[in-house]
Amino acid sequence: MVKVAVVEGDGIGHEVIPVARDLLEAVRPDLEFFDVEVGYGRWERTGSACDEETIADLRSADAILFGAITTPPDPEYRSVLVQIRKALDLYANVRPIRGEGVDVVIVRENTEGLYSGIEWTEPVRACTLRVVSRQGSERIARYACTLAKSRRHLTVGNKANVLKSDCLFVDICTAEAVRAGVPCRTSYIDALCLDLLMHPDRYDVIVTTNMFGDILSDAAAYLVGGLGMLPSANIGDRHALFEPVHGSAPDIAGRNIANPVAAIRSAAMLLAHLGDPASAAAMEAAVGRVLSAGIRTPDLGGDAGTREFGAAVLREVGRGKA
Ligand code: NAI
Ligand code: MG
Repeated sequence: MVKVAVVEGDGIGHEVIPVARDLLEAVRPDLEFFDVEVGYGRWERTGSACDEETIADLRSADAILFGAITTPPDPEYRSVLVQIRKALDLYANVRPIRGEGVDVVIVRENTEGLYSGIEWTEPVRACTLRVVSRQGSERIARYACTLAKSRRHLTVGNKANVLKSDCLFVDICTAEAVRAGVPCRTSYIDALCLDLLMHPDRYDVIVTTNMFGDILSDAAAYLVGGLGMLPSANIGDRHALFEPVHGSAPDIAGRNIANPVAAIRSAAMLLAHLGDPASAAAMEAAVGRVLSAGIRTPDLGGDAGTREFGAAVLREVGRGKA
């Protein structure tokens, strides 16, 4: 039995994840789902956002569908998602950005860089260590090159003109691209942010370090209708977690107006990862038909609710099967 752990998390996670889960159950009734509670809500209730037992539960799953977690502005609180990514060694954060005239995949190193979690506060300053390891860079470079090989080319987003740690990252990525026979160029991350928005057709696979990839992919959402549209996969050698790029959106939570497309697309990526690209494509196609029919949530200028949008996709998936 293939087991899928479902973490709704906080905020709109409670609204968009049930929609994605219903669709998964419709296309793959053979999957076994189990809920795992993680996040700020749990922290408020029990004093713990996530513990060893939770991590063990997540490890036992063949794939994880994840909503989003609210990070309270408390200096003592460690980002749960960063903790999970590290514990499960989910080193590749893959963010496809697809829309009219746009077909880019951002591959972000997911376990180190500025999010290594090595930081401390002194009386007159606070420090965060930016760690770029050879092993960490090699495996993300390999992942990106394998992907680029089945597509077109690779761009290495970096700031090697300022950061020594990025000189190493660029060297490793370009060497791996040569080895894999992938056309490759490098680009400074600040210029890349603007150029990607102005000329998305110039880009195919972009590989970059942790925080640069975080920022670049949120900015790239502009190209395809906003944060509500972007899915992501967090891939390791043994585990995989799928989640919308957006956060828990407390400003709109509980109002049935969140866009569930990012969550649905994340579920489709989960199916592809489980070796079922046909069901993944069917879900993607159903979302496309519903959007084309003008059914949209308010962030896209429509008036459909989260649940109503989900119900429309569910109907389309059923129709695609018939
Ligand atoms: P956010 O992505 O939650 O929201 C940014 C803006 O986009 C908000 O105005 C929100 O209403 C809108 N938005 C996001 N998703 C949407 C959707 N599906 N449909 C319609 N509108 C949508 O980012 P923000 O506000 O910076 O963070 C909120 C909380 O989420 C914070 O506690 C943050 O730490 C957390 N967060 C968690 C993430 C995760 O668990 N993977 C990722 C990013 C943020
Ligand atoms: Mg982000």
